[in-house]
Amino acid sequence: MSWFADKVVLITGGTDGIGKALVNALMQQGAKVVTCGRNYDKLYQLQTAYAGKTLLALSADVSNENDCKNLVEQTIQTYGRLDVLINNAGISMRALFSETSLETLRKVMDINFWGAVYCTKYALPYVIQQKGTITGISSIAGYRGLPGRSGYSASKFALHGWMEALRTELLDTSVNVMWVCPGFTRSNIRNVALNKETQPQGETPLNESSLMSSEECAALILNAIEKHKRTLVITKQGKETVLLNRFLPSFADRMVHKFFFKNGALVK
Ligand SMILES: NC(=O)c1ccc[n+]([C@@H]2O[C@H](COP(=O)([O-])OP(=O)(O)OC[C@H]3O[C@@H](n4cnc5c(N)ncnc54)[C@H](OP(=O)(O)O)[C@@H]3O)[C@@H](O)[C@H]2O)c1
Repeated sequence: MSWFADKVVLITGGTDGIGKALVNALMQQGAKVVTCGRNYDKLYQLQTAYAGKTLLALSADVSNENDCKNLVEQTIQTYGRLDVLINNAGISMRALFSETSLETLRKVMDINFWGAVYCTKYALPYVIQQKGTITGISSIAGYRGLPGRSGYSASKFALHGWMEALRTELLDTSVNVMWVCPGFTRSNIRNVALNKETQPQGETPLNESSLMSSEECAALILNAIEKHKRTLVITKQGKETVLLNRFLPSFADRMVHKFFFKNGALVK
């Protein structure tokens, strides 16, 4: 029997990418799942796929505190408890800081950082009751600032600091607080990443088919939750970047610049 069987898991942003892969894997393993997103069509597709099963797919924008409060309340009303919270919902950006509107940075921060804070604030008493797990889906950009993603990097650095503090505060409660840093993973994130005018890019600069699949990423995340890990850094390139930045930060500046720029222009 799966470790997740009968566990109540709340995953934000479960209608696409890594979140959707987590929902699918958890449903297969017999968990009771609650998820959310903003796009009604995608929510409807998910509800239809799991009609009559233990999935609650709700409309909620995690940058709205009331939506997050309601999400947790609906979880408790439906299932009576909450074992695992996965703060996954996130968006990215692609624009140089000198050119981008501050609104782009604010929006990324509101979703990636404040969305996780709001959900955790309302979920915490229930997760403590269950001696459960709080997981944040962060990024390599939470260890190494990435060009064109200044607001995204800031949101993930903030997530790390906040989660590390929370983890330490909760050490005596048996609640495990863990942050996961996927490397480049095939998903919709680059298509909907905000541009300098705070609009979705509508394209990806990477060859998505060459990236790790969301399903593989989700399987590694669930394994780490089950094993009560502290952190998880995914992909070879991701691990190398974190290590390089730790021990040779100036060299990492040059390598990262080389990867993202061509002839002085941001190309990724
Ligand atoms: N894919 C990668 O290469 C990669 C790498 C490192 C880290 N990550 C992290 O992994 C997480 C998932 O990303 P992904 O790649 O799976 O992206 P994705 O394919 O774009 O999926 C994002 C999910 O989050 C939801 N979402 C976005 N904004 C939301 C909001 N304000 N409120 C509620 N739901 C929201 C989206 O649904 P709606 O748009 O309908 O709301 C969607 O279900 C993010 O935190 C991201 O930073 C991804």
